[in-house]
Amino acid sequence: MLPEIKTAIPGPRSVELAKELRKYESHNVTYVAEDWPIFWERAEGSCVWDADGNRYIDVTSAFGVAGLGHTHGPLRDAMVEQSGKLMHAMGDVHPTALKIQVCRRLSEMTFERWGQGVGKTVLANSGFEAVETALKTALIATGKPGVVHFRNAYHGLGYGALLGGGFDKFRGPFDRQLADVRYAIDYPRSEEGLELLKEQLEVLPVSEVGALLVEPIQGRGGKVVPPMGFLKVLREWSDAAGVVLIFDEIYSGFNRSGRLFACEWEGVFPDVICVGKALSGGYPISACIGRAEVMDKWPVSPGEALHTSTFLGNPVGCAMAVKALALHADVQVAADVERQGRELVAMLEDIDSSLIHEVRGRGLMIGVELRHADGRPAGDVAGKLLGQMLARGVVMLADGPDGNILAFTPPFYITLGELVYVVQQLTELLRDHEHGALRLPY
Ligand SMILES: Cc1ncc(COP(=O)(O)O)c(C=O)c1O
Repeated sequence: MLPEIKTAIPGPRSVELAKELRKYESHNVTYVAEDWPIFWERAEGSCVWDADGNRYIDVTSAFGVAGLGHTHGPLRDAMVEQSGKLMHAMGDVHPTALKIQVCRRLSEMTFERWGQGVGKTVLANSGFEAVETALKTALIATGKPGVVHFRNAYHGLGYGALLGGGFDKFRGPFDRQLADVRYAIDYPRSEEGLELLKEQLEVLPVSEVGALLVEPIQGRGGKVVPPMGFLKVLREWSDAAGVVLIFDEIYSGFNRSGRLFACEWEGVFPDVICVGKALSGGYPISACIGRAEVMDKWPVSPGEALHTSTFLGNPVGCAMAVKALALHADVQVAADVERQGRELVAMLEDIDSSLIHEVRGRGLMIGVELRHADGRPAGDVAGKLLGQMLARGVVMLADGPDGNILAFTPPFYITLGELVYVVQQLTELLRDHEHGALRLPY
């Protein structure tokens, strides 16, 4: 469905709600400006309705969660049915059978499918917790505390996850409380970058390093697709160095990249994989899955788990995940995402604008990098565009350390008509910005 905008954006109700929110929520959390935010009221498929009754197209899948579409019928049914029976159990004490179903399915869809034997899972709530579980696993398995991570990587904002976080702005204020066990290396964008990476790996102190944490495609870092051969280099280095190789597929997993998991583009597999977001399509549940050999390095629970949390294996989340996993497992989904992605990239590449430096991505994980004529990242333009697109009925976000990568991660079954609308609006706005910028020197 195309957008229907009935009020100024944000509408009067959203403006009122933003004022109230400011009063009660820490002002660090929700960004409030003249053109931002709208308050969501309901959503379906790729459409969102706000508190003022305006309808939008969402090209974010709400942070990549709603790949199968917002309020997807089968997922909603699973949630409603389960919540009528049991909303909460005792994850690591008296669990539900649903927990087994999720863990078994995750094993079948990852390590077993890759011919690596059974995968064993630790469930969690947010993505960053799955990453932290993976880092703990690596320390337990190797006895080595060091964490190799990539610049501009994003693994979430918990303290443990920040050990692998590549954005200085998120880590900086807390750095003094973070252990000095991090080794940052550069995420390659080309063959040349891959050669540089090999040199950087070569000089790492392998006796100190237990984990190498990587996104097979950088998401929030700017939809960066590394050259083929990247994961193979990491795999070989990790094997030689006795390091646990962790793939963070919290964003790229479950068909987002046009493969069930992005690592399947290269056919190289990790020791541990982290998933979240689309795992349930709308409930906070994530998972750290590892090869049995690695996961079995954890001690057997003597009655009190060394790692757990109150909501681990929550039955509502598990019921949704079981349903979502069955839907993700349909091979047609990846094929559809790849085709949709190709169509969207072709449309974006057709936009005639000197601000567009590059269109890149895989599947429906696409970035449009904006730069000024002198090469400076055009985060300023991207920021304005987000508000202007919102006013035209498109919910979108920008990525990258400079905020200059327009991100396209829509629900998989967004229609061609909706995508055409989005690209048309963007084209018009980019033209306006370009002309505005061109007028400036005179
Ligand atoms: C690759 C990746 N890892 C981890 C996370 C953190 O997940 P969460 O925000 O659920 O903690 C994100 C969130 O965007 C992500 O993109």
